[in-house]
Amino acid sequence: MGLFNTLKDRAIADRQRIVLPEGTEPRTLQAANQVIADGVANIILIGNPDEVMKEANDLNLTHIHEATIIDPNNDEFTEKYAQLFYELRKSKGITIEDARKKAKDPLYLGCLLIKSGEADGQVAGAKNTTGNVLRAAFQVIKTQPGISVVSGAFLMLLPAGSPYGTDGILVFADCAVVPNPTAPELAQIAIATAKTARDIANIEPRVAMLSFSTKGSASHENVDKVVEATKLAKEINPQLSIDGELQADAALVPSVGLSKAPGSKIAGHANVLVFPSLDVGNISYKLVQRIGNAQAVGPILQGLARPVNDLSRGCSPEDIYKTIIITCNQANKMKK
Ligand code: ACO
Repeated sequence: MGLFNTLKDRAIADRQRIVLPEGTEPRTLQAANQVIADGVANIILIGNPDEVMKEANDLNLTHIHEATIIDPNNDEFTEKYAQLFYELRKSKGITIEDARKKAKDPLYLGCLLIKSGEADGQVAGAKNTTGNVLRAAFQVIKTQPGISVVSGAFLMLLPAGSPYGTDGILVFADCAVVPNPTAPELAQIAIATAKTARDIANIEPRVAMLSFSTKGSASHENVDKVVEATKLAKEINPQLSIDGELQADAALVPSVGLSKAPGSKIAGHANVLVFPSLDVGNISYKLVQRIGNAQAVGPILQGLARPVNDLSRGCSPEDIYKTIIITCNQANKMKK
């Protein structure tokens, strides 16, 4: 059974409440309709109820009436969330009037529903920028205990017959959020990505901390950062299968791993690749996707206390459907 069928079955077996703040957006509604039809999640749409239903009817979507529809302009409804946002952010100097405005912003209202325990996860970004989707989550939901940095992983589903990864899957991070992570941040990204590999990709993580150097072959402060991050990740999580610094070929190709990093259990066998910066991570996943014909699934945001996932503005209804399935699985795991 393919990965998505497994994830879908898990989502159906323990149904989560997923907020879609872009409730009048046509691709979002198409995905929501299919999710409801398949019993994957309980859907909460944010938007003017008349506009949501008009769009749904125009698209012949017959299940949208089963969703909960929340009107962000219903002052009576949003007041409770304004108060919650005010409490969360008053130390940052915001006023209650600022909080009332934020509680009407669907991206913030969705996160506030999660914060107050009325929803389990959020998927947005079909018409909002990554920065806006992330900022609402950072301010309201915040990070998991022990994690201070949110990052974004991609599952790279490699073409059939590829010798790399496990079951044709590699997990890449950070490809979406932190431009220049420090060594402690890089260590957290490695730990969070190993968890995503186990929880979502269903593989036992073997983490390579990538660099342009393998085991001291080059000297540079960028290499030192990766060496330090590897050491910190091992200290935080001694059970983690991790090694670095490794070049990409040493991480992936058994013969190169053996010659450049003899004795390493990871070299030549890595299935999780942690990149030293967002430049490298973002460029690498796009190259592997385009030139290597891999399917890139993500970004899967990791490190938040509750799952929020960002979509590309070019996404299809199927992309949104799959992101909802991933978000349900993250929510399930976080509750356990
Ligand atoms: N993890 C956790 N919290 C964070 C993070 C993070 N990675 N980054 C910022 N925060 C928190 C801050 O601590 C701050 O919290 P506070 O207000 O409670 O003190 C809050 O978020 C806002 O912090 P700012 O520094 O003001 O964050 P800013 O709004 O400038 O930027 C952003 C955050 C938008 C995520 C920025 O890091 C960014 O633009 N990253 C790149 C995103 C991007 O464009 N990715 C590539 C496209 S995605 C793709 O191709 C798949």
